[in-house]
Amino acid sequence: MALDRFGRNISYLRISLTDKCNLRCVYCMPEEMTFRPRAELLQDDEIIRLVRVFADLGFHKYRLTGGEPTVRANVVAIVAAIARTPGVREVAMTTNGLLLDKLAQPLAAAGLTRVNISIDTIDPAKFKKLTRWGEVSDVWAGIHAAQGAGLAIKLNAVIVRGYNDQQDVVDLARLTQYQPWQVRFIEMMPFGDVADFQQAGVVSEAELRATIAAALGPLSLVDDGRLDGEARLYRLPDAPGTLGFISSVTEPFCASCTRARLTADGRLRLCLLREKEVDVLTPLRQGATDAELTELLKEAIWWKPWGHGLGRNVIPLNRVMSEIGG
Ligand code: 5AD
Ligand code: SF4
Repeated sequence: MALDRFGRNISYLRISLTDKCNLRCVYCMPEEMTFRPRAELLQDDEIIRLVRVFADLGFHKYRLTGGEPTVRANVVAIVAAIARTPGVREVAMTTNGLLLDKLAQPLAAAGLTRVNISIDTIDPAKFKKLTRWGEVSDVWAGIHAAQGAGLAIKLNAVIVRGYNDQQDVVDLARLTQYQPWQVRFIEMMPFGDVADFQQAGVVSEAELRATIAAALGPLSLVDDGRLDGEARLYRLPDAPGTLGFISSVTEPFCASCTRARLTADGRLRLCLLREKEVDVLTPLRQGATDAELTELLKEAIWWKPWGHGLGRNVIPLNRVMSEIGG
C-alpha cells in the first residue's frame, strides 16, 4: 500500500503515453507546439516494468492519457500488457475519440474496459474552432465504435467562455435525456503558457448548472452528492443519463485524491496542479532494481502535496496539460 503523509491511499495511476496529439484544443496547447523527441519518452518495456512495480505497491486502477494516447504506436499491445499484470483491476483511457473507429474493438479485446471521450460541443463549426481542425463527426464515429465494442463510456466537456458556453452546454446536457451516458463538465484549469487564457475563460459549475436548469428543468442530486471518481452527479427529470461536474477550481476534491501521474517522459507527478515531480526515467535507465524503484516511488508518494494553490493564485508553470494528460 502506498500512503502519503496525510493518510491518503494512492492507488490510481494515470499514465501519459505521449505528449503528442492529433488536435490542438485552444485551452490545452499552443498551435505551434514542440513535442519531445522519442528517446526522451518511456519506451514500451519501461512502461510495463513500472506498472509491475506500481501494481506491487497496491496500484490497481490505471488510466492511459496523452496528449492523445491512441496516437502512440503499440497502444493496443501496451494495454494488453498492463491488463495482464497481476494486481491490475482496471485499465481505462481518456481520449479525443478520433481514432476509436478503428481502435475501440482491438483495445477492448486487449482488456480496456472504459473510455472517457472528450466532446466539448456538438456544433461542427464550434468544434472545429475549439480544436483548431477537428471534425465532430469523427468523434461520433468513435463514440459509436466504443459502444459497439462494449466499452463503458463517459463524455467529457471543457467549457470555455466565448467558445462553447451557450447552446453547446444545453445540447450536451440534453444527450443524457436520450442516452444512459454520463456527460461531465470539467472546469478549465490553468497551466503554463496558456494560464491567462484559461483563467479568463473559466465557467463555474454553478453557472453551468443554472444554464442547464433554465433550459431543461431542475437538476436533482444523485447519491446525495457522493463523488463518482471526481465528479458530482445530477440528473435531469426522467433522464436515463447523468450530468457530472468536475470542479477542481471552485470545489477542489483534494482530500479524497488517490491519484498519481506518470508523464510521458517518465516523471512521477504527484498533483496535477503542482509542479513537484520525481524523475523515475533516469534511475530506471541507470539500472535501478525493482526494490530501488519501489523505494523511490514510496518516498515520492509520501511527499504528495496536499492540494492545489489556485485559490492563492499559485499556478503550475512547468508543463501544459497535454504534457501531463489530465
Ligand atoms: N482544464 C481542464 N481540462 C482540460 N483538458 C485539457 N486541458 C484542460 C484544462 N486546462 C481536458 C480535455 C480532456 C482531458 C484530457 O482533459 O478536454 O477531456
Ligand atoms: Fe489533444 Fe486533448 Fe489537448 Fe485537445 S485537450 S489538444 S484533444 S490532448
